[in-house]
Amino acid sequence: MIEREQAEANRQMQMIETCRERIRQKSKKMGRPLTYHISTFGCQMNFKDSEKLAGILERLGYLAVETEEADFVLLNTCTVRENANQKVYGHLGQLKSYKKKNPDMMIALCGCMMQEQQVVTRIKERYRFVDIIFGTHNIYKLAELINNRLSSDAMIIDIWNDAKEIVEDLPTVRKFSFKAGVNIMFGCNNFCSYCIVPYVRGRERSREPEDIIKEIQQLVSEGVVEVMLLGQNVNSYGKNLEHPVSFAQLLQKVEEIPGLKRIRFMTSHPKDLSEELIQVMKHSDKICRHLHLPIQSGSTRLLDKMNRRYTKEQYLMLVERLRTAIPDLSLTTDIIVGFPGETEEDFLETIDVVKKAEYDSAYTFLYSKRTGTPAAVMEDQIPEAVAKERFLRLLSVVAETSAKRTAALVGQTVEVLVEERSEQDASMVTGRLSNNLLVHFIGEDTLIGSLQNVHLDESRGFYFLGSLA
Ligand code: SAH
Ligand code: SF4
Ligand code: F3S
Repeated sequence: MIEREQAEANRQMQMIETCRERIRQKSKKMGRPLTYHISTFGCQMNFKDSEKLAGILERLGYLAVETEEADFVLLNTCTVRENANQKVYGHLGQLKSYKKKNPDMMIALCGCMMQEQQVVTRIKERYRFVDIIFGTHNIYKLAELINNRLSSDAMIIDIWNDAKEIVEDLPTVRKFSFKAGVNIMFGCNNFCSYCIVPYVRGRERSREPEDIIKEIQQLVSEGVVEVMLLGQNVNSYGKNLEHPVSFAQLLQKVEEIPGLKRIRFMTSHPKDLSEELIQVMKHSDKICRHLHLPIQSGSTRLLDKMNRRYTKEQYLMLVERLRTAIPDLSLTTDIIVGFPGETEEDFLETIDVVKKAEYDSAYTFLYSKRTGTPAAVMEDQIPEAVAKERFLRLLSVVAETSAKRTAALVGQTVEVLVEERSEQDASMVTGRLSNNLLVHFIGEDTLIGSLQNVHLDESRGFYFLGSLA
């Protein structure tokens, strides 16, 4: 960590102390502890940020509650698709009525949506009850921003266009005691033509391998057995470091950490997936047998318009190399339906890839126009009805291939990490297979956080029912 980053981290610790005292006074006056709630939208990166934000709020003395009827409410927003955006405005409507009842309540907004100028303008004009707005590059400043708000009558707005420093050494709370996400890089340089992420998350920056290893060692010492390495395009990790390190090399270093049992990562861009990575995965004991490899479209013509920089054939060849090297690998993907100019032929190419690649599952999205991206001004935007009809057809093909993949594993006994009580049946717990699929089986709470061997009794399409072996 460079000196300037350490100095900023120290400064923020000071801010936390000052703010903590003010919150203590407030809570004394009110005769009860102050509460907080964070609602997180979007991807793993946002969830990771929310853990850091929660860490700061708890250090300030706020108590976590399950409802947004709290003294401090933070919406960590996503703007990757329009519906993610709409959800946030929905929540804001509700929050307004809570604040009427509790005028001392503070409402803060952060995350990707706040990096968009038109969003901030709209909030300033129409949602004046919001107290604090900040973006994706300065989340570590939360205590300072609360301090500022407590000393002022106006809305505090602090949004940076890009990161100045990576400030990491601040408190954090983790949702699970036994597994954790670890940022290995921030931002994205790919500028896929439909995607807003590079605009709201800034340019790609990798963390130093030593800092990543140190963080994972610390997590393991706290009881973590599984880490998920996070980045928008992990396969280009390390290219811009002063002493470049490849993602495969980083994985090898992580593998050596004693006590760590499982390694996952997300997301892999097909254009940067190296042979070195395939070999490291193949020979690893800890890297999970799962790869999320978004294709977006099966049509080479559209892939070109999307600026993905691979063809359908290159992608399928990559899948074949992966399957040959790692036969038990589970593959998942992201697909966009209704990209501008998508013809029935283009769409059938996508269906063809789904059938050939035999995904374990696929996240399918209706194309959503994002202002400021090149695709937003492309001609031939697809009518919603056409896109929806294709979307439904795609869903049924995906369901078919994933059911086939899941069914093929029935009868095996596999190692799973037990994660939580099953949401569907209180007598069961849920375990995650190395390949990322879930199995529900009868079990006690004491199993949570441990690795167990489970027999896969029955497939239910996307998950299994099983029993302890
Ligand atoms: N960095 C990751 C994806 C991040 S966004 C990658 O490159 O794979 C997650 C997914 O959202 C993308 O894979 C894409 O399928 C989808 N997505 C992004 N922008 C979109 C848009 N404008 N409309 C619909 N889906 C979109
Ligand atoms: Fe968006 Fe493409 Fe970057 Fe993924 S790689 S975040 S889809 S621009
Ligand atoms: Fe959404 Fe931002 Fe992630 S736009 S998908 S939360 S990087």
